[in-house]
Amino acid sequence: MDSTRLLAFPMLLALLHPSPTASVTVSTSKAKVVAHENSNAVLSCEFKTEKDPNPRIEWKKNGKGITFVYFEGNFKEPYAGRASIDGATVTLHSVTQKDTGVYRCEVTAKMDHVPLGEINVTLNVLVPPHTPSCEVPETVLSGSAVELHCKDKLSVPAATYSWYKDNKAMAAGHTLDSHYSLDTHSGTLKFKAVSKADAGHYRCESSNEVGPPKSCPGHKMEVKEFELSLPLLIAVGAGAFLLLVLCCLGACLCYRRGCCCRRRKPKENKQRRNQPNYSPPMQDPRFYKHTKSFMI
Ligand SMILES: *[C@@H]1O[C@H](CO)[C@@H](O)[C@H](O)[C@H]1NC(C)=O
Repeated sequence: MDSTRLLAFPMLLALLHPSPTASVTVSTSKAKVVAHENSNAVLSCEFKTEKDPNPRIEWKKNGKGITFVYFEGNFKEPYAGRASIDGATVTLHSVTQKDTGVYRCEVTAKMDHVPLGEINVTLNVLVPPHTPSCEVPETVLSGSAVELHCKDKLSVPAATYSWYKDNKAMAAGHTLDSHYSLDTHSGTLKFKAVSKADAGHYRCESSNEVGPPKSCPGHKMEVKEFELSLPLLIAVGAGAFLLLVLCCLGACLCYRRGCCCRRRKPKENKQRRNQPNYSPPMQDPRFYKHTKSFMI
């Protein structure tokens, strides 16, 4: 019924304009296809030629360069064995995220006046949530800043995250009365300063509208108070004692070698001699003796 109508209109046009305007026309019933992972995707391509009964049909995929999907009557890798064609409409079976992209249907009818027609079909493969990877520290120090991470890189569209403490959902965002913030898009749970009350079992869930949410098993987080234990005290004491001994040893060695005391004496004499009301020590017999012996 529909097809006779479709055919009737161009025929009427051809009768009205008997000029050689024979051309191939290509169209699609769905230019944007959305398919769930592992389901089939139909890439529709309909064509009509004026004269050529056997046009050439090709499917290509635009990506990093153009790859052939269907060429010379065969599906090419990686489509061989998992795709079928009916007319020019292709069905991809059990699609994966890798199949996402723009596909082009090209119909070439050499006998027609305008021999080439093409359409693009965009395929978007949606992926339900996968089990996210969770990062929960085992032991944290009370009062310290702590971050818990959650990531599910595979789901399409990108997952949103929720955190559960002891199987109770935590409030998202940054509420005034809470001492943590939860970013549902990045999956990060941040504590400014953890307290004993934050200890517990933490797990995270990733979700999108494609499939059921998935949760990681989660981990227990322990919060420890900072306390002075005996071994720590002994270690600190021993360290301080060792440092003191080393300092003493260094000072003694320096003193013995005289690097700090002896060389300064002659310098001091010279300085004193340059002073304006300085009387040389020669006048004083005691000093005279000393200076002479020094000069020799
Ligand atoms: C299909 O897409 C390609 C590349 O993205 C573009 O060059 C071409 O003009 C498109 N064809 C149609 C019919 O939109």
